[in-house]
Amino acid sequence: MRKILVTGGSGYIGSHTLLDLVGHGFEVISVDNNSRSNDRLLDGVEKITARKIKNYKVDLCDFDDTHAIFAENDDIVGVIHFAAYKAVGESVTNPLMYYHNNLTSLINLLRCVEEYKIPYFVFSSSCTVYGNPDHIPVTEETPEKPAESPYGSTKQMGETIIREFARVNPTQCILLRYFNPAGAHPSALIGELPIDKPLNLTPVITQAAIGKIPPFTVFGNDYPTRDGSCIRDFIHVCDLAHAHTLAVQYLLDKKNKSKCEVFNLGTGNGITVLEAIRAFEKVNHLKLNYILGPRRPGDVIAIYANKDKAENELGWVPKFTLEDIMETAWKWEIELQDETKKFPLRNFKFN
Ligand code: WQD
Repeated sequence: MRKILVTGGSGYIGSHTLLDLVGHGFEVISVDNNSRSNDRLLDGVEKITARKIKNYKVDLCDFDDTHAIFAENDDIVGVIHFAAYKAVGESVTNPLMYYHNNLTSLINLLRCVEEYKIPYFVFSSSCTVYGNPDHIPVTEETPEKPAESPYGSTKQMGETIIREFARVNPTQCILLRYFNPAGAHPSALIGELPIDKPLNLTPVITQAAIGKIPPFTVFGNDYPTRDGSCIRDFIHVCDLAHAHTLAVQYLLDKKNKSKCEVFNLGTGNGITVLEAIRAFEKVNHLKLNYILGPRRPGDVIAIYANKDKAENELGWVPKFTLEDIMETAWKWEIELQDETKKFPLRNFKFN
């Protein structure tokens, strides 16, 4: 009775979490409509695990299709919910798309969790719920400020919806607040795979470095930080994935102290954008071209985590360094490029 339903399983963090769950003896199924992904990452998970991973190509905004998955799988013990749009900048220009997609899918899922009395629910939340914090590092008790983007608002509202749901349902819930997920699995068989142009810093760096996109822009070097660029807490996707396995096990072992617990998932190291760029250059022996440009609307100036609670309660200790992040991200980009060369037509978009 250890079947976990992972929504967004074809995505970046979802695929790495499927891998970690299988590696720790869980049975998994995925739900992903591939609106922001394709089958490549699931193929990679299957290559590494030598297991077929069932993916339901369902839009969670369609209640009936979502409900049918639970009707077909009456042995689901937990749900890990990743499926959502997550680009801060894009959410500023397209708020309604973010509110509709991220909240409708969550509510449909919770209606099924309620009807089928699924014991455990883990939610992919985000450090963007803190807004622009007055003090850093942030702990789970740091008061939330208005989100700086509609994306962050959908995570604040999502947390509120889940808290209220947990109050009137037997399901035990955990909210995991990610900082900046980055890097790739050391095998280079799975990694970050933006379907359109990359929006997050690390894939922008690797795609610019390999020549897929023009030199990139550093969005602002006039912030009140040590070098003028924003500060973030870059967490390796494999460390982040393992935290989900630990969170499910924590609930299975009935160690949770409330019905809706919150954990920060960051390394506790604040790194500036320019320092992240330099780390990439150093570990990969490359010189990057980039432009210092204007600030991006929606950006938080500086944020990084106090991770003590996840370490003490979940036994979660991040293993990968910033250099590992930049090295594995680059190795993955090269692997993708080689594949493009091997199967040029396969990557040709037939519109
Ligand atoms: C990081 C920094 C940009 C691109 C992410 C996820 C979000 C959430 C929080 C999990 C910012 C700068 C970026 C570029 C740049 N995580 N940048 N040039 O906005 O911190 O949000 O972490 O839920 O889902 O998206 O990440 O990588 O977009 O930006 O200068 O071309 O890099 O201004 O300071 P962000 P990001």
